[in-house]
Amino acid sequence: MKQADRIYYGGDYNPDQWDDATVAEDMRLFRQAGINLLTLPVFSWAKLEPEEGVYDFGWLDAIIDRIWQNGIRVCLATPTAAQPAWLSTRYPEVLPVDIQGRRRTHGMRVFFCVNSLKYRERAAAIAHEFGRRYAHHPALAMWHVANEYGTSCYCPACQAKFRLWLRQRYGGIEELNARWNTAFWGRTVYAFDEIALPTELNDDYRFNPAVQLDYMRFLTDCTVECFNNERDVLKSYNPEIPVLTNTSGFIKKLDQFAFARNLDAVGWDNYPWPQDPPHFVAMKHDIMRGLKGGQSFVLAEQSPNQQNWQPYNRLKRPGEVRLLSYQAMAHGADTCLFFQMRQSAAGQEKFHGAIIGHSGRSDTRVFREAEALGKELAALGDRFLQARTPARVAFLMDWNSWWALELASGPSRDMDYLKTLSAYYRPFFARNIAVDFVDPAADTDYSGYALVVAPMLYMTKPGVAEALTEYVRGGGHLLATVMTGLADENDRCVFGAYPGKLREAMGIWVEETDALRPEEGNGLAVCGPLKLPRERYACGFLCDVLHAESAEVLAVYADDFYAGTPCVTRNRFGAGTAWYVGTQPEDAFLDDLTDAICREAGVEGLYASEPGVEATRRVGERGATVFLLNHNAHLACADLGGARLADLLTGEKLTGRVELPGRGVRVCREL
Ligand code: GLA
Ligand code: ZN
Repeated sequence: MKQADRIYYGGDYNPDQWDDATVAEDMRLFRQAGINLLTLPVFSWAKLEPEEGVYDFGWLDAIIDRIWQNGIRVCLATPTAAQPAWLSTRYPEVLPVDIQGRRRTHGMRVFFCVNSLKYRERAAAIAHEFGRRYAHHPALAMWHVANEYGTSCYCPACQAKFRLWLRQRYGGIEELNARWNTAFWGRTVYAFDEIALPTELNDDYRFNPAVQLDYMRFLTDCTVECFNNERDVLKSYNPEIPVLTNTSGFIKKLDQFAFARNLDAVGWDNYPWPQDPPHFVAMKHDIMRGLKGGQSFVLAEQSPNQQNWQPYNRLKRPGEVRLLSYQAMAHGADTCLFFQMRQSAAGQEKFHGAIIGHSGRSDTRVFREAEALGKELAALGDRFLQARTPARVAFLMDWNSWWALELASGPSRDMDYLKTLSAYYRPFFARNIAVDFVDPAADTDYSGYALVVAPMLYMTKPGVAEALTEYVRGGGHLLATVMTGLADENDRCVFGAYPGKLREAMGIWVEETDALRPEEGNGLAVCGPLKLPRERYACGFLCDVLHAESAEVLAVYADDFYAGTPCVTRNRFGAGTAWYVGTQPEDAFLDDLTDAICREAGVEGLYASEPGVEATRRVGERGATVFLLNHNAHLACADLGGARLADLLTGEKLTGRVELPGRGVRVCREL
């Protein structure tokens, strides 16, 4: 992405909702708060094209010029997330059909069929207007296409296109029948025209997960096409300007690695729930940084105060917005953008936080905090822009495994891929060990990593297990878990025992997997060569009953008919080591195991810190920048040991134990 001279600071602004005097006041307040980027006009299609092919851009021309006169740049959004009423009325096929077959009514935003040709035609047409008018405007920093894609559709157009997509993927109907294993329940299809979208109405019990899985892939492909429809138009006017979109924080529905290949930069909207632990937010940032191989990302939205759409919309506590903002930057964001700049008068989000609230005042807690943060970000300049996060640990994240694992009926209904990733990620977060999220493919290069963690890598697509096996053989450490290596890319289970193609590297075979009720548990008794701080830990959820072949047994189950059988193993394989955890252990076990593995793999955390205190490091042209973040409401410390840092905001020199007040942040350079 084009290098800015400063962190972009600002967010969504909807000037078409305000009169001239209010806009004038906004400009004054934006300057006061150090705002240097505004995203607009995300939802203004109805105003810009009041009739098909009739455009009214005069007001937007004027506001962009005015923003630029105030020294602020723009992230220009094509307004295609919310089609105008005439489009839905004249061409009802633009509206999505839901899983129950109902054509939905106009009124919602992000509520169109991504395969509607009419939608695509009108979206491209308005993108041309944007390109023609603004592609060389000096205020233009980046293009933002639509908003939070992710609408499923089951309309006749999608139905027809799904059949074509399948024909291209499988060639012949015999191949499709074999891949989907349609012989089960006699679901054989004789022609592509007989294939139905996996809707609920057709669902007497559960649709074949192989069909559902392909629908998810299809939806990703079609949504990418829909995005590219506009991207290509914008690029044709000025290839230099980066084009992106903003991903919803609820990221399951579209394969974000596939999407990101089409973006110049990843942008995402961070709206943590009050109960989300800091490591969960950190992990999502790391995932976003991973989507384009470690490239810095755009924090496209966050709330400057409470949300409105959660059941209980807690105020962000003093210092919390600052802390969350720096956490994003600490994990790779080069922007700090909010939704929204001025709180809307009415509508669905009238109670959503904004920099300027309904009071219109600047002597508010939220505005003052925003202003103070603006000053700090101005002072930091381009210090860490485009800086990378050196990491020696990779986490594998595979959207196909995520979908397939959670589509499967059994062994437990509580399967939760993100939660499992988060359970394994937390110990690394707590030790300030940087982690990259990587899409496992046949050609993934793991050579820079001392350790690869693959929680519930349920599906191994062609070449993936082979690449991981070679990585271990060559000296790498691989940690795999229960529910790994069970299925191929069509969700057909592997023969010859799980973890399938990873069996050789793991040195085990899994005979069966017990699923416990939430109130049940088992125990892990540590045995054999690995000494851990405790002899016994709790475990539950899923318990593999497995056999060690070449692997050493590190822990056995404590209870039940499989008491005394292996549960955690380690296999020396080639020059490397493969670790396997056949259950869901309690957190303390994952902490202790992470310590043991990191010791063997030679992985160290940045600094020691008290619980809730996080330290990260980004390295760029201007050297290394270290972020120290205290997620506690109370004072807590990081221990720099002999390292010496200088606080870029206060000028203080730091070494040894560094105190951080509750929700305190330090941004430092290394001395
Ligand atoms: C999303 C949308 C915004 C707004 C916010 C509110 O992220 O992109 O338009 O609705 O949520 O939290
Ligand atoms: Zn459709």
